[in-house]
Amino acid sequence: MKYAEITGWGKCLPPAELTNDELATFVETSDEWITSRTGIKSRRISHVNTAELAAMAAKRAMAAAGVSAEDVDLIAVATSCPDTLIPNTASKVQQILGADNAAAFDINSACTGFLYALQNATAQVRIGAIKRAIVIGAERMSWFLNWSRRETCVLFGDGAGAVLIEATDQPLGLIEAKLGCDSKARDILEVRGFGTDMDRYENPPSALDINFMGQDIFKRAVRAMGQGAQTVVEQANLSIEDVDLLVPHQANLRIIAALQKQFKLSDEQVMVNIDKYGNTSAATVPIALCEAVESGRVKPGANIMTAAFGAGLTWGAGYIKW
Ligand code: ACO
Repeated sequence: MKYAEITGWGKCLPPAELTNDELATFVETSDEWITSRTGIKSRRISHVNTAELAAMAAKRAMAAAGVSAEDVDLIAVATSCPDTLIPNTASKVQQILGADNAAAFDINSACTGFLYALQNATAQVRIGAIKRAIVIGAERMSWFLNWSRRETCVLFGDGAGAVLIEATDQPLGLIEAKLGCDSKARDILEVRGFGTDMDRYENPPSALDINFMGQDIFKRAVRAMGQGAQTVVEQANLSIEDVDLLVPHQANLRIIAALQKQFKLSDEQVMVNIDKYGNTSAATVPIALCEAVESGRVKPGANIMTAAFGAGLTWGAGYIKW
């Protein structure tokens, strides 16, 4: 039996920081409102496109693993902010990296995209179809934010995270995953003003804009991530006490706290960095995983649980053996 060990990790956060206090100079909001409702203090804003963020995170992951670009068989980019509609963003990443032997595809499963991509790439390694893959979550959310709408613009940020996975006989990497989609709720979170379904609008939007029903999403997110994580621990024959670190999607500190309470996890068992970066959609999980490794919170042999949800409403959870 083959597995897909994570041998490299990297992230790319744009240097330009936008704090809550700075936001409050041009939107009617306050540091107090944003911090108390979401846990966000700051976010990064990118002046480069999604593929460039993704490629930088990927280069760092390859360097950490000691793998060169020509040895990569697959580049999977989870993003909702593609550089272009056609061709895909992953092909641009391949070009920047010079990974000429790699297949390249994008996945759009919104904030759950990285888990969808990791599960897909891991499955390809495990059946022996490929040996190495780079899995990336990369978003330039500032591309479609309307900076005059305080309900939405305060929540998001730009960034990318990547892992490199390699075939091994050891039981390491993504061991179990459970992915799903609650499509009955697909209308409660969407980016309007794009796509082939514009006929539904009486007055089509003139620009992209994100719309959502926050409180409904909140409840569904806690339920879906909780059920997903529970299913995954059972599939893996573990109990929640065996989890060394939970790396959840960073959409709202209160959602993370609800999950933490449900599973009775200590602060040390939960990775949180939403305060620094906000919600970077598909990039939150790999960025948080990368930071957890860099800060020494992930030791060899660690049991990592990850869980995410996003537009669709897609959701997922995974058990990673480090
Ligand atoms: N600054 C100040 N006031 C604000 C702001 C702001 N940035 N945004 C909204 N308000 C006001 C509203 O106008 C409203 O005022 P009113 O009571 O006078 O009408 C009041 O604050 C409460 O607004 P709510 O939307 O009810 O606030 P809520 O407590 O639900 O928090 C939030 C909103 C943070 C979005 C929360 O619902 C949430 O985190 N939901 C889940 C995650 C989510 O939806 N994320 C975005 C989608 S992407 C994803 O995560 C997959």
